[in-house]
Amino acid sequence: MELAERNRPSDWYCDRADCDGLPHDRWTWNHARGKQRPPDGDWFIWLLMTGRGFGKTRCGAEWLLNKARDYQSDYACVAPTWRDVRLVCAQGPSGLLEFMWDDELADYNKGSGDITLRNGSIIHLASADQPDRLRGYNLAGAWGDEFAAWRYPAAYDEGLIPSLRIGPQPQLCLTTTPKLTKLMLRIVTRGKNPDDSAVVLTTGSMWDNKANLSDLAMDELRRSYAGTRIGRAELEGELIEDVDGAVTTLDVIDEHRIRDNKDVPDLVRIVVAIDPAVTAGEDSDATGIVVVGKGVDGHGYVLADYTVKGATPKQWAKKAAAAYRLWEADRIIGEVNNGGDLIAFTIHTVDPRLPSQSVRATRGKRVRAEPVSALYDLGRIHHVGAFADLETQLCTWTPEDPESPDNLDALVWGCYALGLAVGGDWASLFAPQRDSHARVEDQKALPAPRPGSWANVYSKGKKDRRALTRGDKDDTG
Ligand SMILES: Nc1ncnc2c1ncn2[C@@H]1O[C@H](COP(=O)(O)OP(=O)(O)OP(=O)(O)O)[C@@H](O)[C@H]1O
Ligand SMILES: [Mg+2]
Ligand SMILES: [Zn+2]
Repeated sequence: MELAERNRPSDWYCDRADCDGLPHDRWTWNHARGKQRPPDGDWFIWLLMTGRGFGKTRCGAEWLLNKARDYQSDYACVAPTWRDVRLVCAQGPSGLLEFMWDDELADYNKGSGDITLRNGSIIHLASADQPDRLRGYNLAGAWGDEFAAWRYPAAYDEGLIPSLRIGPQPQLCLTTTPKLTKLMLRIVTRGKNPDDSAVVLTTGSMWDNKANLSDLAMDELRRSYAGTRIGRAELEGELIEDVDGAVTTLDVIDEHRIRDNKDVPDLVRIVVAIDPAVTAGEDSDATGIVVVGKGVDGHGYVLADYTVKGATPKQWAKKAAAAYRLWEADRIIGEVNNGGDLIAFTIHTVDPRLPSQSVRATRGKRVRAEPVSALYDLGRIHHVGAFADLETQLCTWTPEDPESPDNLDALVWGCYALGLAVGGDWASLFAPQRDSHARVEDQKALPAPRPGSWANVYSKGKKDRRALTRGDKDDTG
């Protein structure tokens, strides 16, 4: 069907939210399926992570064009390389130019990569390889294709995100086949968190688009790859995220994740665990601040991550003290060799009444994370909600990495302090106590199990705890 014959303005989106994309009514051609439509709600980032051939590129192109039609402004289209963005996203068979209306294109400057629409909107093509070129734009929307293949996180963090700041609803659509990068994991984790409405994740497989793909080619791919890792990622669109040597995998975290606070059992103890930065300032380490609880079932519950970057000791101590109060915690915890004394000292300058305690994890980095890794495998650690940075570290950090993951270290100290990592698994049954990986100083001094129900504690301070996560409460005493 000729473009000109179509009824505008919606060739691609029909009036059915859950359409299968096959012709009906006046949409006599194949058009967007339900999953190819932008999600409802007030989202900021839509991550469309699917298998090959799902129609991702088309989806991004059509979505961006619709934005550019609706509101005259500047937009960006970003792909892994300059070549990709021109040959696939702009000029390709699923690209922007292909789906423009007959009289819609005012100009396409191949040199600068500017596509100008008749209504005055400009779509700037950019390469994720050159993160600096993205700086300085004022964008009302952007589409990023093959996001998992972007070489520099800066193209996203420093280029795209800060530029999305004008228009009625600046939004970013990211389309990609799944591949584990730290950046991907961060966004996927947010997408899976039902409390984080800013990021929406849509997944799908190649088969979803079978009406528009060659049967022969699909059969061939199925024969070659079905059941393999490549097949799971490239055809089914599954994010395979086991990094050899990492503490755990997102699958394991997901399996034991708690989405509804009502499912958290009563907690007998709650600690705020800290891994302090050695120096304060822009480029310094972060100070890991993680709140962990121990349930009546003996399992660990990760409740919050208030890790801060570039904070002075006084700032992180205040944050930890606020976390201590909001969660009605029993102790603030540090590791002896990792600033344990400094923590006690600093915390007491903020509030001398706060109980702090040191744990000792005697062995090297590799070994001390191992019991925690075992806890995850055994399904004895539950994340209450989702913690993007922490989870990225858990799934990608290996002891070979020089950079020390602060949130992860804090979590490890918290697990030790709660006695989760000692005596909780089979290995420790056979290990004499003095050989075990850690010992909790002054274990006897820990308070008796907490009275009252967890659900009450949670609902009481919920808003404040969210604010603390966002950093609004940095300066509260
Ligand atoms: N709902 C749809 N209706 C009609 N055609 C569609 C639909 N979705 C996708 N297509 C077509 O399917 C083909 C594949 O789409 P596209 O190139 O966007 O897939 P992709 O997921 O980006 O693939 P790749 O993984 O290779 O990048 C294109 O010809 C596209 O126009
Ligand atoms: Mg594509
Ligand atoms: Zn339809």
